[in-house]
Amino acid sequence: MLNDQSLGLIDQAVAKYPADQKQSAVMAALAVAQQEKGWLSPEVMDFVAKYLDMPAVAVYEVASFYTMFDTSPVGKYKICLCTNLPCALSGALEAAEHLKKRLGVDFNGTTADGRFTLKEGECFGACGDAPVLLVNNQRMESFMAPDSIDKLLADLK
Ligand code: FES
Repeated sequence: MLNDQSLGLIDQAVAKYPADQKQSAVMAALAVAQQEKGWLSPEVMDFVAKYLDMPAVAVYEVASFYTMFDTSPVGKYKICLCTNLPCALSGALEAAEHLKKRLGVDFNGTTADGRFTLKEGECFGACGDAPVLLVNNQRMESFMAPDSIDKLLADLK
């Protein structure tokens, strides 16, 4: 299901915990699996559950709770906009409307060309830089006024 490189990374994460606590590595394992597969299908989550000796439903719970995990296919660039209160008070709602208009999709939608998926996120701990968004869970972009969004989308073309 996963390649040797991914399994090696999961094994490294598992090794950080006592032998009877393999499930503690579930977030790391899901991140590795998603990096390889692009998203977390039920088959991938079942595999992770078996690999970590834990119930599949517990893996589903983790995968569906955190916005960084995708349990359905996403576009090449996943844009996750924080809409929690500090960001909302500093332009996130305007940023959301601008993103929806530019991409032609609502939250949880993917553009027809498969390039962008738009998601709504919870506080990223960077409220002072609001509004904030994440690209593919790793690249944080701050102060996302409409003109900054336009520049970002042009960069991601
Ligand atoms: Fe948006 Fe904290 S509320 S980063």
